[in-house]
Amino acid sequence: MERTVYCGQPRANDDGSEQTLVGWVDSRRDHGGVIFVDLRDHTGIVQAVFDPETAAAAHAGAGDLRSEYVVGVRGTLRRRSPEAVNPKMATGEIELVVRELEVLNVSKPVPFAIDDSASLTENVRLRYRFLDLRRPLMQRNLRVRDKVCRIARQYLGDRGFVDVETPMLTRSTPEGARDFLVPSRVNPGNFFALPQSPQLFKQLLMVAGYDRYYQIARCFRDEDLRADRQPEFTQIDLEMAFSSSNTITDLVEGLVKTVFTDVLGRSFDEPFPRMTYDEAMARYGSDRPDTRFGLELVDLTDLLGASEFKVFRAAAEGGGVIKAINVKGGATFSRKDIDDLGSYATGFGAKGLAWIKAQGGEWQSPIVKFLSAGERAGLAARVGIEDGDLVLFAADTVKVVRAVLGALRCKIAADHGLIPADAWNFLWVIDFPSVEWDADEKRYFALHHPFTAPKPADLDRLESDPESVRADAYDIVLNGTELGGGSIRIHRADVQSRVFALLGIGEEEARHKFGFLLDALSYGAPPHGGLALGLDRMVAMLCGSESIRDVIAFPKTQRAACLLTEAPSTVDTAQLRQLGLKLDL
Ligand code: AMO
Ligand code: AMP
Repeated sequence: MERTVYCGQPRANDDGSEQTLVGWVDSRRDHGGVIFVDLRDHTGIVQAVFDPETAAAAHAGAGDLRSEYVVGVRGTLRRRSPEAVNPKMATGEIELVVRELEVLNVSKPVPFAIDDSASLTENVRLRYRFLDLRRPLMQRNLRVRDKVCRIARQYLGDRGFVDVETPMLTRSTPEGARDFLVPSRVNPGNFFALPQSPQLFKQLLMVAGYDRYYQIARCFRDEDLRADRQPEFTQIDLEMAFSSSNTITDLVEGLVKTVFTDVLGRSFDEPFPRMTYDEAMARYGSDRPDTRFGLELVDLTDLLGASEFKVFRAAAEGGGVIKAINVKGGATFSRKDIDDLGSYATGFGAKGLAWIKAQGGEWQSPIVKFLSAGERAGLAARVGIEDGDLVLFAADTVKVVRAVLGALRCKIAADHGLIPADAWNFLWVIDFPSVEWDADEKRYFALHHPFTAPKPADLDRLESDPESVRADAYDIVLNGTELGGGSIRIHRADVQSRVFALLGIGEEEARHKFGFLLDALSYGAPPHGGLALGLDRMVAMLCGSESIRDVIAFPKTQRAACLLTEAPSTVDTAQLRQLGLKLDL
C-alpha cells in the first residue's frame, strides 16, 4: 500500500474522498463492535474506523493490532458527526472508514509511549533513540534544525558565500580543548586529529581567493560535557575577506534575525545592542551576560576596602575587589535559603557570602557591626538599599568575585521567576582582551584563538603590556548563552609570529605546528575575518530545549558515550596491531 495522504492532513472538506494512509498504531479502542485506531505519522494522527458490518476482514485484522504496529489502510474519509468531533486534533472533524487493512510490520511492546507526556530518563531515551525520535517533540526539533540549516544556506548562498568542505582527518587547530586522535595505519606512530573547527582551513581559503566561505561544519572537542556541550557538535561557520568586523557582525546579525523570524514567526527589528567585554564583566560578571534581568554587580571596593571587616580589607589590600548584588524583595529569604546560596557560591570559589537583609527599617547581617555609619550610608546609597532587600557580597580576587556574583545572579533570577518569559535578549560582546594570564601554567592564553588579530591601535603594546591589548573579536550572546564567536584574523606572517611568541609558542614549534599557515600568510593573504555560530545551541533555544542533546539526532551522554551503539568500545588486538598500537592501561 502506498500513501495518498499523510495522517495529519485530512480535513472536514475532504469528506467522501478515497485515501490510503500508512503509519504507526498510536492507540486502538474497541467500542462494542466498531474498532477505532489512531494512526500516526510525523504529521499527526488520524482516526481510522473499522466496522464489522461493512469491512469484516479489515475489522478482524484490526482486532490484532497493537501499539506501534505499522499498517496501511484504504478507505473513504467521512466527516464525523458533531458529537464525535475532537477539537484537540487537527484532523478531529474527520475519520477514515477503512475497507482494507494491511499489516506492514509488527512491534514488540515499546518501553515508553510514543508521545510527549511521559517523563523519561535520558538513559532510556538514548538507549531507544529510534523510538524517542519518533515522538512528536523530537520530530519537531529535528525539523526545526533542518529549517535553520536551509535558511542559513539560502541566506549565505544569496550573498555570495561558497560552501566548501574541509577535512575531518587533519592536524588539529587549537581551540583550547583536547583533540580526538585517529591513528594512521599507513604512517604508523602518526595520528590525525579530528578538527575542533575548520578555523585554519577557512583562513587558507581566504588566501586562496574564495572571498566568502561557509560550511555547516562538524567539530570535535574532547572536553567535559554539559547540557550545552557535546564532543561532536555543529557550527554554521563562515569567513570573509576584505571585510571589517562591523560588516561581519551585521551580516551575522541579519542571518540570526532571519532564522529567528522565520522559525518563531515574530519580528526582530531592533539592532542587537553592543557591550564591551570590560562592561559585561563589570556589570554582569560574565562575558556572556544574561540581560533579561537586573541584579547587576555593584563595585564597593573604594567604599568598603578600608572597613573594619577584615575579609573586605584583606581583599582590597590584596588587589582584589568587593562587589555586591541587591536582590529586591530578597529579605523574605530564610537563613537556609541564604546558606544554600552560600554553598552555591563556594562552588564558584567563594570563601563566604556576606549579606545584609533590610527588614522592618533595620539591617540584619553578620557584618554590619563592622561597618561605620559613613560606610553604611555610602553602601545604602550606592546599592540602593530599600526595605525588603537582600544584599549579597563577595570579596576576593576580581576573577572569583565575577564568577561568584555572575553565577549567583543567574541562579537567583531563575529560582525566583525574575526572568521574563518570551524575552530574546541578543547582545554583541566586543573588545575582548587578546590574551589572559594563566597563573597556574604561568603563561598567556589567547582568549579567542591564536589567529585573532589584535586591534591595530593596540598592536604596539603586544610585548610591553599584553593584557591591555584588545582583540578585534566579537561574540554573539542570547539570553546568557554564547551562540557564536569570531574575529578579524591576523593576515600578516610577522604579526602572527609575534602573537605565537607571546603565547609561548617558540619559532621552531610555530614552524612545526603552523608552518603551513605562516607560509600561506606570506603569499598575499588578504585581510579577513569570520565567525562560527553554534548550530546546536541556536536550535535548542529556538525549540525551548534545556539541552542540546534534544536537538541532535544521536547525541552522546554526559559520559561521552553513545548508549544506542555502545560506542566507544574496545577493539580487537589484531586491529590495534595493524595500527602499530598497544594498550597500556
Ligand atoms: P568557538 O570555539 O567560540 O569559535 O565556537 C563557536 C561556537 O560553537 C559552539 N560550541 C559548541 N557547541 C556545542 N558543543 C561544544 N562542545 C561547543 N563548543 C563550541 C558555541 C560557540 O560560540 N573557529 C572559531 C570561530 C571563528 O573564530 O570564526 C570557533 O570555533 O556556540
Ligand atoms: P566570618 O567573620 O569569617 O565568620 O565571616 C562573616 C561573614 O562574611 C559570613 O557571612 C561569611 O560568609 C562572609 N564572608 C567570609 N568570607 C567572605 C568573602 N571572601 N566574601 C564575601 N563574604 C565573605
